[in-house]
Amino acid sequence: MPAYAVLGAQWGDEGKGKIIDFLARDADIVARFSGGNNAGHTVINSGEKFSLHLLPCGIFWPQTLNVIGNGVVADPDVLIKEIDHLQSRGIDLTGRFMLSERTHLVMPYHIRLDQLMEDARGTGALGTTRRGIGPAYSDKAARTGILAADLLDVDEIFQRLEAILAYQNAVITKVLGGPAISLKRTFDKCRKWAEKLGEFIGPVDTVVRESLDEGGTVLLEGAQGALLDLDHGSYPYVTSSNPTIGGACVGLGIHPRYMGGILGVFKAYSTRVGAGPFPTELLDDTGETIRDLAKEFGTTTGRPRRVGWFDAVAARYSARLNGYTSVVLTKLDILDHFDTVKICTAYELDGEVVSEFPASDTALDRCKPIYEEHPGWDKPTPSITRRDDLPKEALSYMDRLQELIGSSVDIISTGPERHETVMARSVFSP
Ligand code: IMP
Repeated sequence: MPAYAVLGAQWGDEGKGKIIDFLARDADIVARFSGGNNAGHTVINSGEKFSLHLLPCGIFWPQTLNVIGNGVVADPDVLIKEIDHLQSRGIDLTGRFMLSERTHLVMPYHIRLDQLMEDARGTGALGTTRRGIGPAYSDKAARTGILAADLLDVDEIFQRLEAILAYQNAVITKVLGGPAISLKRTFDKCRKWAEKLGEFIGPVDTVVRESLDEGGTVLLEGAQGALLDLDHGSYPYVTSSNPTIGGACVGLGIHPRYMGGILGVFKAYSTRVGAGPFPTELLDDTGETIRDLAKEFGTTTGRPRRVGWFDAVAARYSARLNGYTSVVLTKLDILDHFDTVKICTAYELDGEVVSEFPASDTALDRCKPIYEEHPGWDKPTPSITRRDDLPKEALSYMDRLQELIGSSVDIISTGPERHETVMARSVFSP
């Protein structure tokens, strides 16, 4: 019966792809529930590297069914490219991939709107991935979206597209000064998408519920992270969906009683891409060193990621939002290189010490980190697979993190490959 959610616990890019691939060995279904191709999940197995933006990371295990839920917004061009790419590398998706009928499509006008709106914001830009994600979710809420199911009756789309484009093109050309999107070309694309994707479109919610009812194990694949959540993140510097646990239920049509575990994936330090407050950001040589060592550049946009020490105020907030039953700690090996490592345990805000994550982005921006310092370790940790082999200083750093987060560190990632993983405690219920 159980579903296990694997959630980004910080600002995204925590290394969820590797963890989902690692856990998918024991899964029947791996289900993406939110976001779109703003996400970039990297999986390395047997030395081969794959970057996935839409397809779930369970795709490399032949026994898994991989599904995209209704909470995702999918750009069909990107999805088709990803399917073709995997098939060209010998990964057969036949009968192993399903796109929910209820998934909203990212249309060409969404991408153009995202780009023009970001340009129009000038110095106030949000730093979106410019992939059309925000405009696609806006249309979903405005009830003017196109669903994957609509591709199954593609001729019916034309009239709706005509009306939608009359409005969107007025915004694109008259408000934002950009070039209009062609109705004919957009409709031709819909036909092509229908041809390529039609066989994969199906009732994902029913399939997932049936598997759970029959005792199947379903991994719920998160994208982005709790602090980018539309409702609970550092608004307005957030994404347009809910990467938190509620988003997993809504984004797949499953209820909370199916939940067997909620895994929060944390990096051993912090990173953030795009604009917005980041209290522990390191704008010095230490930040540069971490970025270079960890190759902190976006999988989707290639942008350098902003880097900082672990923020336990944000981590506690994330834990309270999601109720983690396990913590997964990634990129611990990056901290091998420092004499001391720091954890932010509180903020100083306008002369007061605060331990809550502020709702206002301007308040968060004024927060200064209060750190405690821990000794580093001089023994390298890459590729370690047994908890007992980790240096004692690294273990005490992790002990302190789990104390601050309020949940045990059950999986530790010590490198990008599947086998470079410490399983300290099973995350699956007995
Ligand atoms: P959007 O999701 O493209 O609208 O971008 C909104 C914000 O979320 C920007 O700051 C992006 O950099 C950030 N973002 C979106 N997806 C990811 C991700 O997968 N990892 C990290 N940051 C992301």
